[in-house]
Amino acid sequence: MASGVDSKIEERAAFLRKELHRHNYRYFVLDDPEISDAEYDRMMQELISLEQAYPELARPDSPTARVGSEPLDKFDTVNHSIPMLSLDKGFTDEEIIEFDKRIRRSLAIDENILYTAEPKLDGVAVELVYENGRLAMASTRGDGEVGEVITPNIKTISSVPLVINSSGDQKLPALLEARGEVFISKANFEALNRRRLSENQPLFANPRNAAAGSLRQLDSRITAQRPLEIYIYGVGTAPELTAFDSHAEVLRRLKGFGFRINPLIRYQIPLSRILEYYKYLNEKRLSLSYEIDGMVVKVDRLSYQQELGTTSKRPRWAIAIKFEALQERTRVLDIRVQVGRTGALTPVAHLEPVNVGGVTVSRATLHNEDEVKKKDVRIGDQVFVQRAGDVIPEVVKVISSVRDGSEVSFEMPKTCPVCGARAVRDEEAISRCINVACPAQLKANIKHLASKAAFDIDGLGDKLIDQLVEKNYVDSYADIFKLSWEGLRQLERMGDKSAENLINEIEAAKRVSLSRFLYAIGIRHVGQHTANILAAGYRDLDALSKATKEDLEAIEGIGPVVATSIAEFFSREENLKTIQAMFEAGVLIASAPETPRNDQLMGRTFVLTGKLETMSRDEAKQLIEAAGGRVTGSVSSKTDYVVAGESPGSKMDKARDLGVAILTEPEFKALVS
Ligand code: IVH
Repeated sequence: MASGVDSKIEERAAFLRKELHRHNYRYFVLDDPEISDAEYDRMMQELISLEQAYPELARPDSPTARVGSEPLDKFDTVNHSIPMLSLDKGFTDEEIIEFDKRIRRSLAIDENILYTAEPKLDGVAVELVYENGRLAMASTRGDGEVGEVITPNIKTISSVPLVINSSGDQKLPALLEARGEVFISKANFEALNRRRLSENQPLFANPRNAAAGSLRQLDSRITAQRPLEIYIYGVGTAPELTAFDSHAEVLRRLKGFGFRINPLIRYQIPLSRILEYYKYLNEKRLSLSYEIDGMVVKVDRLSYQQELGTTSKRPRWAIAIKFEALQERTRVLDIRVQVGRTGALTPVAHLEPVNVGGVTVSRATLHNEDEVKKKDVRIGDQVFVQRAGDVIPEVVKVISSVRDGSEVSFEMPKTCPVCGARAVRDEEAISRCINVACPAQLKANIKHLASKAAFDIDGLGDKLIDQLVEKNYVDSYADIFKLSWEGLRQLERMGDKSAENLINEIEAAKRVSLSRFLYAIGIRHVGQHTANILAAGYRDLDALSKATKEDLEAIEGIGPVVATSIAEFFSREENLKTIQAMFEAGVLIASAPETPRNDQLMGRTFVLTGKLETMSRDEAKQLIEAAGGRVTGSVSSKTDYVVAGESPGSKMDKARDLGVAILTEPEFKALVS
């Protein structure tokens, strides 16, 4: 290169670029890093400094481009070399069978056709153009013919290769247009909205809108702060790839080039397996970390695709089979107020029962007073209700055009509907019953205490809790641990045997981990994840209860709101008394890890190393995530388990050094099953 920069420095910059690309790929695409985050940051910092000192070293495909660049005035537009089509849609098994028939009829083929079937990601379609292996341009789908150029924004996405891997026998293609979907995971979407709420910014309605909004920023430095991800599912113009026989082969090559390909894709399967896969995906969909809204089936053989061709809008060789909508229309019969653990009064819509994606929904949360006002939900209204993941169904929108004037507006009560005490609105727009002895709060607290992720007392159901509170058997949740067989026997529908079983269950539940205990006692803003962080940071309750707000804020993952809430909780005499009463009744915080059970994977951190025999790394990751755990790339003191396959690397040594639990593959399978 003919620049005035010393060749040593030029070499160093080239080395850093190459290494950073490689480590970025290992981390974001393979999920298998070789170096620590700190080492990566140091290399990045060095490259940034070099590029700043010697601007002639800057390259458009430098890893430093991921932080974003100067804002644009507007987006340029580009004609896609091959239109980005949309897909025909179906909804049922019959439509899949019909599609297969149509294909075989058109091709005049009797035997099985092989398809590749993929999750239909609910994000934003993009095209990435690589020239001689370098990302030269990226655009949105637009109207299918003309898209907007969003290159700087796309470069910020860590799972997008800026340069194609050229290792092994693969030749770098002169031109390659990769197509795929940009999306935001459900968890990152929630976190993004939480942050926006605290910054008083408007919330995104769903992950797709968040991804679309993030991609359409004129200032790519804003995009760089959004947790965007990508999966590639096909190509536009790509002469070297479309010379292959099958779509499966194209995807395999793309994977080899360093693109991120969805691990759930099924390659070259016949109709019967497509039907199974559709069922499988539909069941799996709510537990996936990102949103999918159906399955895409593609004729696998490229010569067949050619022969079938496209209409002006859609290919004849592919179809999207959508899942049942998780939104349905129904009527609001009533709006009632429910009292939660913290005394929060939540308006709840009681609905004409409606089937939403296989589950009958008869109630939906309206969150709070402001939300009811904003959506203007009235009793008698026709509304859309929605289920998303495991969360409580919610009212999305009122269909106000069909109102007939008989609808009744809702007023938030000024007093608690259960105990009659005054309700006070707090700074988060939530009305709360001010009576700490409110029986509704106590019931909700006990339900929480008995729940699976807390003390997990199975026999302590809602009806029983209602009785215990209404008959004054318990005045605080600590009293649960003092219940006697004789006492329980007095309750309705409680036989000798069930009373004994419940007593045994309560007895067994008394030994509990610190994280479960912290979750169970119902500190505001402390969910399972935060409880895990606290338990890892403190190890004993005494130290935690004495921590100041500042101490707590110093822990990674604990923000000011949560820290305040924890410190406040432990400063209250009545809370300390309740905790003391629990200990006196025999509750014991076990320091040794409990025997792992499935729900204990919730919030646990795993690192995978070595080759697994019976599953791929991606499958292992899916299993862990489905059980609520997470997978990270490097071992640290925060790692709960290292799963070691065949010829594990240095991660295993590190795990041994740090005393992290190491699991063999069979042990891991026993744990997740
Ligand atoms: S293939 C000609 N595969 O669905 C083939 N599309 O309705 C066109 N999508 O705009 C696309 N996941 O954004 C394909 N695995 C997948 C997909 C997928 C999501 C989106 C894509 C496209 C829309 C088509």
